[in-house]
Amino acid sequence: MITASTRPKLNSRTKYNFIYSLFTLYELRYNKILLNNCGFHPSELQTENGLQYQFYLELLKTVELPPDKPLKILEIGCGQGHGGLFLLQNYFAEHSTYTGIDISDIAIHYCKLKYRHLRNAAFVTSHNTPPFADQTFDVVISIETTYPRHEQNLQELYRYLKPSGLLLFAETYDMHDNTNHDMKLLNSGFTIINKINVTENIVAAFINDNQRKLAYLKKLSWLPKKSLTFLGHYFGVVNSARFASYQSGQRNGFIYAARKPV
Ligand SMILES: C[S@@+](CC[C@H](N)C(=O)[O-])C[C@H]1O[C@@H](n2cnc3c(N)ncnc32)[C@H](O)[C@@H]1O
Repeated sequence: MITASTRPKLNSRTKYNFIYSLFTLYELRYNKILLNNCGFHPSELQTENGLQYQFYLELLKTVELPPDKPLKILEIGCGQGHGGLFLLQNYFAEHSTYTGIDISDIAIHYCKLKYRHLRNAAFVTSHNTPPFADQTFDVVISIETTYPRHEQNLQELYRYLKPSGLLLFAETYDMHDNTNHDMKLLNSGFTIINKINVTENIVAAFINDNQRKLAYLKKLSWLPKKSLTFLGHYFGVVNSARFASYQSGQRNGFIYAARKPV
């Protein structure tokens, strides 16, 4: 018999394909895009998804980037590309290039169609893409993927970066788990140049974004109850278990800036 504890968990690829199918349908129906991170409050951006774009901006605030030097940027977990392209088009020097990689075929298919006119952006899935060559990128960014949690992945990113290249990412951790995530970065050769606890900003983003998320869920009320419960948790609506885990301090969010030594 399958019980709650023996029921297989959705694998990441299936889960994110489901989420991005819904996001794509929503955009087709309502002509509005959705970003896919918790958000960072306060935001200086007066725009729809401003809290989620702000999370991207916060990554850049941790370092000083050369204002005029074109950079080669890689994003791990680019989703539908909105956040990464927002940075590319507004905050990186002209002639910079961007590669977005994601586990979701639906998200990458969406990016390839939507941004086909962009000559400086490319999108690939993580499961059928050969590894990049050593020292390809100046900057790697990542927001809320579990990718940098694994030392093997960090070693791969280290290899992709040029000397003095930057790894900028936001991650969340269960504080009851004693894993030393900083040590994984250090073991992989990186120097940590900044680490900021952003849990309060995430909780404030959940609260400030709650009405918008509830309105979105209302539009999805045709879905089975089980799917709606999953999405309420995934979006961190107030009173969901996910929201409570951040509010209680059990789960914390961090922004890291790490550098590959010269
Ligand atoms: C929470 S979403 C964040 C998406 C996007 N960065 C944003 O902020 O809107 C996590 C993303 O990571 C992707 N992802 C999860 N595991 C991955 C992996 N092993 N390799 C590449 N992408 C992955 C998911 O498909 C999803 O798009």
